[in-house]
Amino acid sequence: MNNKIGIIAGSLRKESFSKKIAKAVADLQPEGISFEIVSIDNLPIYNQDFDDLNDVPESYKTFRTKMKEYDGFIFITPEHNRSIPAVLKNAIDVGSRPTGESFWDNKPAAIFSSSPGSISAFGANHHLRQCFVYLNLLTMQQPEVYIANISEWFDDNDNIKDEENKKFLKSSVDAYVKWFNRLKE
Ligand code: FNR
Repeated sequence: MNNKIGIIAGSLRKESFSKKIAKAVADLQPEGISFEIVSIDNLPIYNQDFDDLNDVPESYKTFRTKMKEYDGFIFITPEHNRSIPAVLKNAIDVGSRPTGESFWDNKPAAIFSSSPGSISAFGANHHLRQCFVYLNLLTMQQPEVYIANISEWFDDNDNIKDEENKKFLKSSVDAYVKWFNRLKE
């Protein structure tokens, strides 16, 4: 059976650059691995009362069941106030509970961060890395993937305009696939 990688964009907005990157990554579908975009759009804000089996929201149940199918993850994160957008942190928290049932545990991961600015969401990238140490997500160390000036990347059909940027994204995905295969051996 093919391994499955979930691609998670940390933004809710319709015209999100993170969602466009997620789509471009999904289109790079490597041989022998399925890339699928995962939605985190409909998860209520995590509340520890939801750990009570009688109070688990239906959307959490569906999300957790679906996420257990994935063997690894690529996170595409923007930056909010030099950190992780709340919607992405929320999905991470939902996936980490109840204690002992985290579906993040021991899964190979990569972080791609982007911003319309020049600092490329460095802050969000590294705050995510900090969470992943605790969650035992096996995060690719190198190459680090920072994307600056993301508002200049896409044409009106959401295709990447510049060949160099296409190459950069492909090389980042290839590095993750290598990392994933190494850990799955
Ligand atoms: C931002 N933005 C932003 N950008 C950045 O590089 N560093 C930052 O700290 C912030 N902070 C921030 C806070 C909030 C509340 C918003 C709404 C935005 C700008 C952000 O990078 C930009 O809106 C991106 O386009 C958001 O990503 P998506 O939605 O395009 O994926």
